[in-house]
Amino acid sequence: MATQSGKFITLEGVDGAGKSTHLDYLADRIRARGVELVVTREPGGTPLGEKLRTLLLNEPMQPDTELMLMYAARAEHVAALIRPALARGAWVLCDRFTDSSYAYQGGGRRLPFERIEVLERWVHAGFQPDRTYLFDLPAEVAAARRAAARAADRFEAEDLAFFERVRTAYLRRQAEHPARIRLIDAGASIAEITKLLEEDLASLCI
Ligand code: TYD
Repeated sequence: MATQSGKFITLEGVDGAGKSTHLDYLADRIRARGVELVVTREPGGTPLGEKLRTLLLNEPMQPDTELMLMYAARAEHVAALIRPALARGAWVLCDRFTDSSYAYQGGGRRLPFERIEVLERWVHAGFQPDRTYLFDLPAEVAAARRAAARAADRFEAEDLAFFERVRTAYLRRQAEHPARIRLIDAGASIAEITKLLEEDLASLCI
């Protein structure tokens, strides 16, 4: 059944928590409702954003530079892709958004959260996802899952302490925004998680 207006849904979690599997599932379920769906990612999602992604994932840079480039890519993404899609009634499913900046640049890189708040207000004041799924996993379990995957980028190459800080910052963010951010135990089975997602998606469509 088609709904009145599009929803903006984001997926978050430490690298290796299994976001991609669940993103594919959510995309299938949303499309099954007969609505237009835009699937996108951050950093990236626009031609310029994808160029910035290549730099962000590979080029050594200062933490402040990294934070500002994340928001430069986000400014382009929100204005050129996300808002226009929502305005025409499409749903948007995005792999990572501003919560990643709090977790990685705030938690991981230890930048003051106030700097992120300034950029967040600048780039998307008053605009947040309708729902965020946070896939939570202990840092060492996520690291073991990552080790089995492909070569590490600049973030994935960070040590366990970095990812412990990322996870802590994510959990803090969830505690601050409990209505928007659904905490999901990424250690549960895929079947258990898809059931949770399906139920939550149904509640979003009401
Ligand atoms: P992701 O798409 O999850 O990587 P992959 O393609 O390997 O699954 O995310 C790319 C990386 O960008 C990830 O390690 C987290 C990082 N990131 C930040 O540090 N801050 C941000 O604001 C965003 C959106 C991503």
